[in-house]
Amino acid sequence: MHVLAFVNQKGGCGKTTTAVNLAGALSARGERVLLVDLDPQAHATLGLGWAILHEPTVSDVLRDRVTPREAVLPAPGGFDLIAATSGLAHFEELAERMIGPEQLLRRALERSPTAWDFVLLDCPPRTDGVLAANALRAADTAVLVIECGTFALQGALKAVDVLEEVAERQERPFALRAVGTLFDRREPLAHELAIALHAQFGPLLFDTFVRTSSTLRACAAAGLPVQVLEPASPSAQDFDALAEELQRWTRRSTPETNRVEPARGERARAWDTPYVSRSAAVLAAAAPRARNTQHARGSTEH
Ligand SMILES: Nc1ncnc2c1ncn2[C@@H]1O[C@H](COP(=O)(O)OP(=O)(O)OP(=O)(O)O)[C@@H](O)[C@H]1O
Ligand SMILES: [Mg+2]
Repeated sequence: MHVLAFVNQKGGCGKTTTAVNLAGALSARGERVLLVDLDPQAHATLGLGWAILHEPTVSDVLRDRVTPREAVLPAPGGFDLIAATSGLAHFEELAERMIGPEQLLRRALERSPTAWDFVLLDCPPRTDGVLAANALRAADTAVLVIECGTFALQGALKAVDVLEEVAERQERPFALRAVGTLFDRREPLAHELAIALHAQFGPLLFDTFVRTSSTLRACAAAGLPVQVLEPASPSAQDFDALAEELQRWTRRSTPETNRVEPARGERARAWDTPYVSRSAAVLAAAAPRARNTQHARGSTEH
């Protein structure tokens, strides 16, 4: 079971869109997938067409009222969902009076270690709260979701610093990967940024960039993953390519520990090795090459 947390303290960078549609793509590839909504905004839950009344939610799982298996709801696209509601914010208050509240999700998932091939955790836009702490304790991989817009590199580096701090406090480290989203090929900045991200993250960056597409906004509004609403769309292709990369990468996992092990030459964690550069100079240096080099897949908005 591979557990991936989709993180970035920046709001609106595509965490939920990536988690929901990657869940759909992995499921379409025959994987058993669980998506856990860990955000009181409940965008993943709403984006899969669920309006929760009396169904169990992730709050119930965290409070050990139900097991993860008992809490799953069917999501369109054939995967399992553990839903959230705005009531999850109440759990954050309760957690202040608990001992070790950041361990709760990991312990709950350990009760069903073989139920799913992939567990995807959609995190809120903050990395310092108890919900993100639960996600990072449970995860074997933190996937940093980076919007290909202005100041994205600086934001990503700040996020890596925060993740580094969290990882140092944990006895069980997680691997780091990064994915670029909202990639608009018509934007010169997007190309420059893609090159800078490659320079920064190397093999930890997924080759697939998720393109900006009105299809994905329509999917969220319709409460469906793209594989259900627009299976032949370029967006569905993006997520299929991302799922395929993830499958390839996780095939190299260590069976004894269930941990994702990077290939020879790859960095286990970005913070183990000095960065190529930590400054905006990367962006400046990369700019002249941007005209000739295409590091990112993708085309214009469709
Ligand atoms: N590739 C994309 N193309 C077009 N729109 C997108 C894309 N990715 C995300 N969006 C839209 O951008 C908005 C923010 O996306 P999303 O909710 O996935 O971000 P988030 O990081 O989860 O936000 P939050 O931090 O608030 O949880 C949504 O309206 C979503 O539909
Ligand atoms: Mg979100």
